[in-house]
Amino acid sequence: MKEKFSQLQLLKEQAKLGGGQDKIDAQHKKGKLTARERIEILVDPNSFEETDMFVKHRASDFGIDKIKIPGDGVVTGFAKIDGRPIALFSQDFTVFGGSLSETHAQKIVKIMKTAMKAGIPVIGLNDSGGARIQEGVVSLGGYADIFLLNTLASGVIPQISVVMGPCAGGAVYSPAITDFIFMVRNTSYMFVTGPNVVKTVTHEDVTFEELGGADTHATKSGVAHFVYDNEVETLQNVRKLLSYLPLNYLDRPPQLEFDYQTIEDDPSLDEIIPDNPNKPYDIKKVILKVVDNQDFFEVHKNYAENIVVGFARIAGKSVGIVANQPEVLAGVLDINASVKAARFVRFCDAFGIPLVVFVDVPGFLPGTDQEWNGIIRHGAKLLYAFSEATVPKITVITRKAYGGAYDVMNSKHIRGDFNFAWPSAEIAVMGPKGAVEIIFKKEIENAENPEEELNKKLQEYIEKFANPYVTAERGYVDDIIYPRETRRKIINALDLLFDKVDTNPKKKHGNIPL
Ligand code: HXC
Repeated sequence: MKEKFSQLQLLKEQAKLGGGQDKIDAQHKKGKLTARERIEILVDPNSFEETDMFVKHRASDFGIDKIKIPGDGVVTGFAKIDGRPIALFSQDFTVFGGSLSETHAQKIVKIMKTAMKAGIPVIGLNDSGGARIQEGVVSLGGYADIFLLNTLASGVIPQISVVMGPCAGGAVYSPAITDFIFMVRNTSYMFVTGPNVVKTVTHEDVTFEELGGADTHATKSGVAHFVYDNEVETLQNVRKLLSYLPLNYLDRPPQLEFDYQTIEDDPSLDEIIPDNPNKPYDIKKVILKVVDNQDFFEVHKNYAENIVVGFARIAGKSVGIVANQPEVLAGVLDINASVKAARFVRFCDAFGIPLVVFVDVPGFLPGTDQEWNGIIRHGAKLLYAFSEATVPKITVITRKAYGGAYDVMNSKHIRGDFNFAWPSAEIAVMGPKGAVEIIFKKEIENAENPEEELNKKLQEYIEKFANPYVTAERGYVDDIIYPRETRRKIINALDLLFDKVDTNPKKKHGNIPL
């Protein structure tokens, strides 16, 4: 028996070396960790249970049958993060460049299927040269098997992709289907075709980093939700993200203890809205004053900054925050902001995370660029997402709520549960100047002193509509509150809605305007 144990130990040690020490050194030289080192940082100590360590590829073309490395370029298994179970795969670039073979794909599919049955999140650490070229279509089939599982698991368990090296060609579509993508500056990239193909087809000269680096995807394309300077920071933030999420759609997010005696009014909130309604202010200041411990985990921080989304805790409960940002483009809703927020709202709704929405929006962005690129169908995504969401939904209108954007931003009409307005709220079809110039056009033109008439009509309009009282008379907001009591109001609403039940009509699935 002792011999058999020694043999097992030897085989395990061999497998753990992946492509060998030379390749591990080369990986380190690039500023990258190995697949196993990454797992060690990501999960709780001694919690990793590996699966399929002995799997080898079955291909034979181009002499590949002479090199068979146990594990076949991906480390798979189960572990714990903050004591809660997860499934993971970590591609090993030291083995055939982490390229995906038939068996490599089967290992990933296997843990995903188990994760779905067990109801636990899947985290994929991607570092791969893509389809294993020597295996041809079999490897493409492997990718398709993963894409299918990503799709079937969507909304069942959270799926997180961490891109820590190359991710090119069709391989990008697995992370793209998952819920969140993390990238690392300078060592990870994602693109459908690399700089050489780009040069041939479009004659553009572009570097790897410019075309598909972490900052490109975090700021320009919106493909990456989170970007960090190094792998350790990235993996630590994957742990942080998970702390807000339930294990599956039937589970509740982790709830921290909270002492209700600590709730206090915050008078500094009363000072946040400038006297001049056209002056910007930073909505993140409001968010930080309302959430627990001033801790806000922002998603898509550098993309479509005119809307802010992210996770926080309020009285220990995990919430998703959506807020117009008056400091960027006056908080207007444009295509990118609508799509960004819609995806976030749908994630929160899929996984039972209550939504807290702060509204200060002058409307949708006008112009040919927006119209020709489809602000109608993209804006509709956000409307659809809020409308279909059945999680607890709380809205606070801090200042402007104009036009269609008033309806879209989790209004009472689309099932907002508690809708509050600050006394500074202005809720109307459009802003005073635009409105007065339309409805009093003739009176102003024909007046002896048009400017005086315009100002008179403006005052009339402001008194009538640039306040929350008409809306409150109708019951479209449940209460007009002092800014200082916002946190308490939200805490009480969240408590009341803790076991909220709401449903949508039975159907196969809706048809969100994609
Ligand atoms: C087999 C591969 C491989 C691949 C890399 N390797 N990619 N083996 N299939 N796809 C091997 C290399 O031969 C090399 O083996 C080792 O991995 C490390 O690769 P290097 O080139 O030395 O590393 P580096 O210089 O860092 O370059 C990394 C790279 C480059 C940029 C990823 O290897 C590369 O361009 N690979 C091909 C990428 C690609 O075009 N893949 C197909 C994409 S299309 P040795 O033995 O020398 O160490 C695709 C379709 C998916 O994936 C479709 C889904 C529907």
